[in-house]
Amino acid sequence: MNPLLEAFWYILPAYFANSSPVVFKGKTPIDFGRNFVDGKRLLGDGKTWRGFFGGLTVGVLVSLIQYHALPSYYGSLNAALRLGFALSLGALLGDIIGSFVKRRANFPRGYPAIGLDQWGFLITALILAYPVRTLETGQVLFLLAVTPFIHWGANVLAYTLGWKSVPW
Ligand code: CTP
Ligand code: MG
Repeated sequence: MNPLLEAFWYILPAYFANSSPVVFKGKTPIDFGRNFVDGKRLLGDGKTWRGFFGGLTVGVLVSLIQYHALPSYYGSLNAALRLGFALSLGALLGDIIGSFVKRRANFPRGYPAIGLDQWGFLITALILAYPVRTLETGQVLFLLAVTPFIHWGANVLAYTLGWKSVPW
């Protein structure tokens, strides 16, 4: 496979895990409404349990579909699911860390944090997936370059479809 196409194929579960929580419209916040020691919300109402587990499920399902589409890339279903799980969990944890940082910086829920929103989930996904399967440095740089555009495109689409109240 072309290395750039391979990088894109590799990261797909992370993209889906990051973008799907918005359709689950969860209620119970992961922080259960609690504040951090600074008196501000730990994560805020935009990070819910339903969104987290929904995103994780969608990400793993994507890797299941990927395995059936291209089994030779993974070798085994187990390898595909482990990569999908690591990428999805990493993407969702990165998103949560991002919200933690945003609340400390007084950004209200939904306020765009340029850089953090586009790269945070990608970097944590790559870190968690690293022990499972690695990419070449050039492929990682390619993903760092294209992900902001894909992230914006996905958010504009979610806004257009009425899933999100803001197009970022
Ligand atoms: N969402 C969720 N659970 C998650 C992540 C996202 O329920 N773990 C839903 C929320 O309804 C959230 C929407 O998806 O409002 C969009 O996600 P995101 O842009 O990541 O959250 P923000 O609303 O921007 O909140 P924050 O400022 O904390 O990033
Ligand atoms: Mg947001």
